Formats: sequence, structure tokens, C-alpha cells
Amino acid sequence: MKKRIGREEISNTFKTTLSNNKLISDEDTAVIFYDLDYLESRVRIVKEIFPRNTIHAIAAKANPLIEILHLLKGLDVGIEAASFPELYIAEKIGFSSRNIVFDSPSKTQEELKYALKLGVHINADSFMEIDRISDILKKTNSNSNIGVRINPQVGAGSIKTTSVADKISKFGIPINERRLEIIKTYINHKFLNGIHLHIGSQGISIDQLILGLKKVFELVKEINYKLQIQGRRIEYFDIGGGFPVSYRFDDEIPDILIYYNQAKENFPKLFSEEFTLLTEFGRFIHANTAWAVSRVEYVKNESSYKILSIHLGADFLLRKAYHPNDWHHEITVLDSFGNIKLGLDKKKYIIAGPLCFAGDILAKDIELPEVTIGDYIIIHDVGAYTLSMWSRYNSRQIPKVLGYNNDDIKIIKKRETLNDLYSFWK
Ligand SMILES: Cc1ncc(COP(=O)(O)O)c(C=O)c1O
Repeated sequence: MKKRIGREEISNTFKTTLSNNKLISDEDTAVIFYDLDYLESRVRIVKEIFPRNTIHAIAAKANPLIEILHLLKGLDVGIEAASFPELYIAEKIGFSSRNIVFDSPSKTQEELKYALKLGVHINADSFMEIDRISDILKKTNSNSNIGVRINPQVGAGSIKTTSVADKISKFGIPINERRLEIIKTYINHKFLNGIHLHIGSQGISIDQLILGLKKVFELVKEINYKLQIQGRRIEYFDIGGGFPVSYRFDDEIPDILIYYNQAKENFPKLFSEEFTLLTEFGRFIHANTAWAVSRVEYVKNESSYKILSIHLGADFLLRKAYHPNDWHHEITVLDSFGNIKLGLDKKKYIIAGPLCFAGDILAKDIELPEVTIGDYIIIHDVGAYTLSMWSRYNSRQIPKVLGYNNDDIKIIKKRETLNDLYSFWK
């Protein structure tokens, strides 16, 4: 099974693209490529290892490209919407209500009413939200399954800004301090039939993921024991996303099967027919399935430093620019024909994005073969939390996105036009 997209594949795909002026033109200073076959295979992995009735709600925030969401829907998985607009997109794509999970810590009354009428799965983030839902349900019929997001308080992972299960988190209800109130809430609200946790995104170990499951599953067992008398139970267990990926060529690739097997071994009942599982993987599905290419516009060759000026920066790789030590993307240099530049005599470069602030830097002191104007910089593993976090600073146009299956390459999103851009600010 393919573990990542190799440099040769990238070079070949890019050469094919360069030879087709319907796919790329001079104005495409940067382009993003998705390997659609590979993306499908990532989905197949989770579908194959989890129980058949699992609802895999792929996190839209990782990659909301409409064509790709259509592809996901066609693969019979669901979608996790973390905002009302994401819910709108999910509905418009045609995901069935059963396959939509609506999360968000700031759902309004109106948004909740809408989601309840639609009958999507909802995870409430707080006691206040549960009260809101309760009020709405007094006047509205709904088929929604409703869960409560628990913060299992297993500690932060290695990346602070994407860890959400530390002692203090803006998400969910803290399990340690609020255990009794949580149990009472389930007893008092008959509409609650689900539970949810999510620990963070990247930088989370399998041990932490398992510990989170353990703490929440123990809580579920206690709640279900108490609910027996009412003839009801928590049936839907949403394990969230957060399975990490590898961004470095020489890193070990985290194996989701190990996570699954450990979880199943520890909590066999959770993986029995007693529960319907939901997952919310995003990064695992998308991150390794895309690469970006930018033309090198200028090379500043000073005696003590060399700066490459390219067309993607903090607008596309926001996290990398603002938290450079937390994030990494491998870089490859192609010549102007798309051939991989090897060059034994490597030089140190700073790779600078196009934006008007000093922090718009993608790499410092990176060793690369000699780069000249007109070469291309490949940025690897950009399939998740990149385009979806696009920054409007300096009003640069969002680049074209191509999708490919081997030599079959198509445009899945056009480059933003100047008019589109103008309308955005209007
Ligand atoms: C509630 C929730 N679910 C799922 C995800 C997806 O996480 P990942 O892309 O790491 O799988 C996130 C991302 O932060 C999230 O906040």
C-alpha cells in the first residue's frame, strides 16, 4: 500500500501538467495537486478496519474542496461540520443527515434549530448548549442523535495550539471536575444518546488517544448503568479525529491499525454491536495526499545568505509560518521542465513567501541543490489544514487545484480571478 507520494511521481505528474496548456498557464504561479486515488485509499483504510456500521464523518475543516467532498460522499462516508457554513456545504453536497456530524463550540439558537430539524448528529459542547437544545426540542420534532463533548483531560500533545484535551480547554465539558453533573445531565435529558471526545490534531500519541477513550468509556459505562432503569443508553460513541500523520520522509509513519487494534483490545464492548461508532478523521485522510508547487520568482544571492522568493507562504501554510517549530513540510526542487534537481553541491536557502511581512518564511537554512529563477519548489504533504486556512492578507488569489489519478489530471478548482477577489472584499 502506498505510504506517501514519491518525488518521482510528483515530477512525472508535473511534467505531464506542464505539457498541457489547458491545465496550467503562466499565470499559475502556484498550483496544488491532489492524488485522488491515494485519497480514496486512505478512506478505504478506515472503512476496512473499523466495524462496518461506523460512521466516518471526515472533518470538513481539513479540506473543504467541493469536488473532494463529492468524492468522499461517493465513497459512502460522512462529514464533520465544525461550523454552520460547513453544515450548509455538507447539506448542499447531499450528505444524508445520518452522515453529518455538527460540532462547534458556538452554535447559535438558530443554527441549533436548523440542525435539529435537519436531523443531523449534534455534539453539544457545554451544559448551556444542552439547555438550549432542550428548550428547542420542547417545540420541535427532531431525529437528531445528540451527544455531549467531553474533555477527557489527558494533557496536551506536543503541539499546544492543536491540543484540546489539556486540563483547560475551550472545548467540551471537563471530565474530572464535572463528572457528577455530566451523569445527572444524561439522566435528566432523554434526548442525549451520544458522547463525543476529540483530543487534538497532530502531535497526539496513540497512548493519549487510548487514554482519552478509556476515560470516556468508563464514564459511558457508569452512565449507561444509571440509564438502565429508564430503558435507554448512550448508543453513539464519537471518538473524534486526531490520528497523526508523518510529514518527514525519514519519520516512522504512524499506523492507524495499531491504534485500532489497541483500542479494540482494551475496550472490546465499545467495538461490539452495542455501540455505533463515529470517527472524525481529517488529517489522516487528506494530509499526505497533496503537494503544492510554486515557481521560483527570484533568488537573492547574497554572500552570507540566499533567499528564494516563491508564490506560497503564510497565506497557504499559516501554521508553518506562525509556529515554524511545530510544523514541517519536506521540500523538493524541480527544474523549469519538471525534472528533480539533485545537485551534489547543496546550498543553504531561506524560502520566503510572497506576503508583506517578515514572518512569511517557510524554511530557514534549508539545504537545497542550487536554485535558479524559473525552477519550481515542491512543498510536500499539504492536503490538510492548508487551503482551508487560506489567509486573505495581501489579497493574493487562491491558486488552482488539480486532481489526478495517474496520468489523468483535471482541474478541481479554478484559480481565483481578480474579479472573484474583488467581490470577496465588496
Ligand atoms: C472536533 C474535531 N473533530 C475532528 C477533527 C479533525 O482532526 P484531525 O484532522 O487531526 O483528524 C478536529 C480538528 O481539530 C476537531 O476539532
